[in-house]
Amino acid sequence: MFNKTCVVSAPGKVILHGEHAVVHGKVAVAVALNLRTFLRMTLRNDGKISIDLPNIRTKLCWETSELEPLLVAFPADQIDSQPPSPEQVEKLKEFSGVADGAAAATRSQATVAFLYLYLSIASKCGVLPSMDILVWSELPTGAGLGSSAAYSVCLAGALLSGCGVIGYPLGEGQSVARWTEVELGLINRWAFRGEQVIHGNPSGVDNAVGTWGGALRYQSGKISSLKRVPTLRILLTNTKVPRSTKILVAGVKDKLLKFPAIMEPVLTSIDAISQECEGVLEAMAEHSSGEHYAMLEELIDINQHHLDAIGVGHSSLDRVCLITASHGLHSKLTGAGGGGCAITLLRPDVAPSTVEAAIRDLEDCGFACWETDIGALGVCAHSPPSLKAEVLKAFSGI
Ligand code: PMV
Repeated sequence: MFNKTCVVSAPGKVILHGEHAVVHGKVAVAVALNLRTFLRMTLRNDGKISIDLPNIRTKLCWETSELEPLLVAFPADQIDSQPPSPEQVEKLKEFSGVADGAAAATRSQATVAFLYLYLSIASKCGVLPSMDILVWSELPTGAGLGSSAAYSVCLAGALLSGCGVIGYPLGEGQSVARWTEVELGLINRWAFRGEQVIHGNPSGVDNAVGTWGGALRYQSGKISSLKRVPTLRILLTNTKVPRSTKILVAGVKDKLLKFPAIMEPVLTSIDAISQECEGVLEAMAEHSSGEHYAMLEELIDINQHHLDAIGVGHSSLDRVCLITASHGLHSKLTGAGGGGCAITLLRPDVAPSTVEAAIRDLEDCGFACWETDIGALGVCAHSPPSLKAEVLKAFSGI
C-alpha cells in the first residue's frame, strides 16, 4: 500500500505486423509504444471522489455517499472473469449524466469505465475510498494507439493497489517499479473489463500490451509475450484521416469472399511476415546488426504492399511512405489503415538531421509526428519526483 499518493503509467500500442490478417486467424505482432498514459491517485478522507481527465476535458466530483446506492449492482463476490453486464453499464451511464451523443461518447465511456472499475474493486474492501484521480496522456485518443486500454490499465493498477487488493511495488528510494506476474495478471483482467465497458467486444490485445509491455504475438484469441524484445526507435505519424475499423474490416472480408484464391495467399504471406518478424526481434534482443534492420525494413515494405492489395491503403499513407522513402526510411500503416497512423523504422545509424527533415516534410502535409520507441515497459509505478517535466506540468494543471 502507498502512503497517500501513487503514480502509475501504462504504454500505448502499435501493431507491427498482422493487422486485418489477424481477424482471419493469422498471427499478429503488437508492441508497446513509449507514449504513455499517467495516472495520479491521491487518497483523501472527506468522503469525496473526483476524476480529472484533461485530455478529454472531463472533470467530475461526487460524494461517496452518492455512489453507495449503486453498490447493489456490484456485489463483493463479483469476479474479474465476469464481463460487465448491460444493466451495470446502463445504471452507470444514467448516474454519470454525461450525455451520450457522438461528441460526448468518449467522455461518457471514460467516466463509466472509471465508475465500473471503482465500484467493482472497492466493493471487495467494503468501503468506498475517498480519492482524487488525475489522468493525463501522451497518446491521442481514437487513433488506434490503445489510449483507452492504457487508461483502463492505469485505473486497474491504481485502484487494486489503493484498495489493498494487490501490493504497491514502489520501495523507498526507487524511481520506478513493476508489480509481480500474478498481480499483473489481475491488473490485465480488470483492465480488460474496463475495455469491454468502452469498446463492447475488444480482442484484449491492447490491455495485454499496456500491462506487460514489450511485444506480444496474438492469434485466434491467444496472446503470448515474446520472450526477449529489443527497443526499436520509430517515427509514428498520424495522418489525422479518420477511418472506421469496422468498415475496413468488412471491406477485407468482402474481398476475401469475392476472390478467395487471390486474397487467401496474401493473408498467408502476412502471417509469414509476422512470424519472420518475431524471429528477427528475438535474434536482435541477443545482438542486433545492420542486417537485422535491413530485414525489418524489407518486411515493412512487403507488408505495406500487401495491405494496399487487400484494400486498406490510403493516399495519405502513400504520402507518408513516399516522403520517408525520400529520406531513406521505410514505413507501413499500423492498425486499421484507410488513414490513421503509420510507423517508420529508424535505424540506429539514421542521423538526427535526417529524422528532423522527414518530420518537417510530414508536418508540412498536416500530419502529426512523434519520435519514440517500441518495446517499452508495461504498467509501472513511479515516484513523483522522478517524473519528466511534461508530466509534472500536466499534474500541476499548468
Ligand atoms: O487501429 P486499430 O487499433 O483499430 O486496429 C485494428 C486492427 C484490425 O486488425 C484491423 C482489427 C482487429 O480487430 O484486429
